[in-house]
Amino acid sequence: MALLFKSSWDRADWWREELLQRIPDLDFRVWPDVGDEAAITYALVWKPKPGDLARYRNLKAIFSLGAGVDHLLADPTLPRVPVCRLVDRALTRGMTEHVLTHVLRFHRNLPGYERQQHAFEWKGLPIKLPEERIVCVMGLGELGGAAAKALAAHGFHTRGWSRTPKTLAGVESYAGNDALAAFLKGCEILVCLLPLTRETEGILSCQLFAHLPRGACLINAARGAHLVEEDLIPALDTGQLGGAALDVFRVEPLPRGHPYWTNPRILITPHVASVTDPRSSAELVAENIRRVDAGEAPLYVVDPRRGY
Ligand code: NAP
Ligand code: GLV
Repeated sequence: MALLFKSSWDRADWWREELLQRIPDLDFRVWPDVGDEAAITYALVWKPKPGDLARYRNLKAIFSLGAGVDHLLADPTLPRVPVCRLVDRALTRGMTEHVLTHVLRFHRNLPGYERQQHAFEWKGLPIKLPEERIVCVMGLGELGGAAAKALAAHGFHTRGWSRTPKTLAGVESYAGNDALAAFLKGCEILVCLLPLTRETEGILSCQLFAHLPRGACLINAARGAHLVEEDLIPALDTGQLGGAALDVFRVEPLPRGHPYWTNPRILITPHVASVTDPRSSAELVAENIRRVDAGEAPLYVVDPRRGY
């Protein structure tokens, strides 16, 4: 019984240390030193290549090294075993920090002051109270729900959109496609924290931007493929959007020649909104190994048909 670790992003040595502290007899193998493939019962992975996992015929569960599982479910040959996503307090807190940082940046018009600084301009810009600012969060799961609650606690007029209705302190809940236009009406800062699925791919498009008031700002910390890339710069050029803070991109790293790099209204971060930390995340992986070994259902299993 062995666990196979494969990621070109996460540190195998850190994961080994944290998992062995919790399961001392765990046979932890790091790709490509797999050894006997038949011994692999667990895969702990980030973005394996399609087909990579099909060779392990004795897999009992697949653990994503992130909250998202789109990198796994896109593989048509993925073994039919439970696929578990990461849910972790530190991951949630990191995303809440990212969202608060960028919402406050737009709310206090820091991009405007950056532009003024380049022009040696000393001038106060209009300011609003948080309760006068409608901030909308798409996706009210572990990450979006926590971010929306934090925005509401700060005093923003906060709305959230999900498939099913939610009750979250201070957050107005909108559910389903029929409620999308009402959710977006008057929204000045839009945050995307949806999972990437067939339904949500390309949802951030010029059609959606047209529902926002002129000058609204976009924060995408979910997946690059939520955004129709070619719709963003025209929306910024016409002023329909006032700015964008993007952490995720269709192709990562963002290619050097990509026009987003040099657009003054786009702030780029390199997929770091919230980073998996094995010091806390290993707890869930270890618990899931214990559960599966004991014949119990693991936690946070995704529904492959739903896509999240
Ligand atoms: P989650 O707990 O599964 O929550 C997903 C939320 O999206 C749920 O509220 C769900 O609605 C809603 N949703 C799904 N499909 C929808 C649809 N078609 N229409 C409306 N709402 C829909 O996911 P999470 O843990 O919060 O993570 C969200 C995403 O964040 C991940 O999938 C990943 O892509 C991204 N992420 C990015 C980073 C980064 O560093 N940039 C880090 C971690 C995660 P219901 O509640 O009704 O089911
Ligand atoms: C990161 O993008 C994650 O899904 O955790």
